[in-house]
Amino acid sequence: MTPPGRTKIAALLHNAATGAEVTVKGWVRTKRGNKNVAFIALNDGSTVYSIQVVVNVASFAEELLKRIATGACLRATGLLVESQGGGQTVEIQARDLEIYGTADDYPLQKKGHTLEFLREIAHLRPRTNTFGAVLRIRHAMAYAIHHYFNARGFFYLHTPLITASDAEGAGAMFQVTTLDLQNLPRNEQQEIDFTQDFFGRPACLTVSGQLEGELGAMALGEVYTFGPTFRAENSNTPRHLAEFWMIEPEMAFYDITDNMNLAEDFLKYLIRYALEHCEDDLRFLSEHYDSELLERLQGVVQTDFVRLSYTEGIDILRQSGRPFVFPVAWGVDLQSEHERYLVETHFRRPVILTDYPKEIKAFYMKQNADGKTVRAMDVLFPKIGEIIGGSQREENLEKLQARIAEMGMSDKNLWWYLDTRRFGTAEHSGFGLGFERLLLFITGMTNIRDVIPFPRTPNNAEF
Ligand code: 4AD
Ligand code: MG
Repeated sequence: MTPPGRTKIAALLHNAATGAEVTVKGWVRTKRGNKNVAFIALNDGSTVYSIQVVVNVASFAEELLKRIATGACLRATGLLVESQGGGQTVEIQARDLEIYGTADDYPLQKKGHTLEFLREIAHLRPRTNTFGAVLRIRHAMAYAIHHYFNARGFFYLHTPLITASDAEGAGAMFQVTTLDLQNLPRNEQQEIDFTQDFFGRPACLTVSGQLEGELGAMALGEVYTFGPTFRAENSNTPRHLAEFWMIEPEMAFYDITDNMNLAEDFLKYLIRYALEHCEDDLRFLSEHYDSELLERLQGVVQTDFVRLSYTEGIDILRQSGRPFVFPVAWGVDLQSEHERYLVETHFRRPVILTDYPKEIKAFYMKQNADGKTVRAMDVLFPKIGEIIGGSQREENLEKLQARIAEMGMSDKNLWWYLDTRRFGTAEHSGFGLGFERLLLFITGMTNIRDVIPFPRTPNNAEF
């Protein structure tokens, strides 16, 4: 279906039938020319390319043409013809122009703005070629994710965003309350009386849909969640957001190897999908930001990921002789410098690291027989480090309860989760893919704030 009253520029450029009158509507990227003819580059967001509108100055009121400047929104109607100049295949010979909105003092100009500056005008940056490309790719990836799972019989499960349990046990949750912060109700012990709060108890924004995802898997077999998650960790890095989107498949009857196979196939599918469906936008981004982008994407699709235990990974890092900022020893949590050394320098391909020390992983992971490690798996990618975190889950009730107690956690809020281990428990596994980390890899952008329309980071909730 075509939109009412216009043709999208993507459609015009892809199957250009010259000789017909067409109408386009969009925003002016540039206007140049001389006293006889003006050239307007018009973009409507359907493609990274703008269409050139050629205006015979004598045929239009001077006042109208003066109001057409970068940022203005207008309709152009005219004959679609083969382009006279280079750089484009077709152009429109304007017969009629209508201005919808002018744009005096428009902050975006032709010259390339820095990504830092564009973050300050995030409300307008979707109108740049760069963010148009990123946002179209973001859409395509979201679509591909649903398509991938649907084609394999996974069901999309909507897990709650407001929760009373800290799935990752990292204590980095945002609290949700309707209590009057200036005048908190107190109980007899002088503690805050959460029975008077909206949910009658403390509640937070979720850090993961996994725990409820597991309930879904133990009923529907294979499910996935895809929604926003929130983490109040104060890490101001180019790879962390306070609000990010996560895809979490959860599968009954999968062990860790099945889980790794799915993760690798899923990532390759998504990258291949981008290469096949986002050609123009990827080419634009590789030309302007990262000349090795397409090569890197193709490389990952074609190669087998390395599979390696954490212990073997630590040995490699220790033998590397590298002066890492964070020292390496068995038991430490890997930093992105370590992950990237393994992927970019040592193996030169993605790595799936398994069997991490239990102390640095969440309570729900399946315990190995050695008593020291758990059946975790992190997928490490070039330029990114950790892109996926997952595990086989501990399905044994006693072991799970023992681990919860050992970690000093309360199982008071987890009775419903533990019930899955009481009633028809089975081997199961799952993982979480950070959507923006995936987009960092696919677009070649280097700051996670540039792959989400409106980033939420410490001290930043503008727009
Ligand atoms: O490794 P994480 O913390 O795993 C979980 O949340 C599990 N519940 C997933 C599961 O097994 N179902 O997070 C998963 C992924 C990370 O690998 C990373 O890609 C992304 O989520 N991620 C973040 N992305 C952006 N900003 C942050 N602050 C992120 N924290 C994690
Ligand atoms: Mg992780």
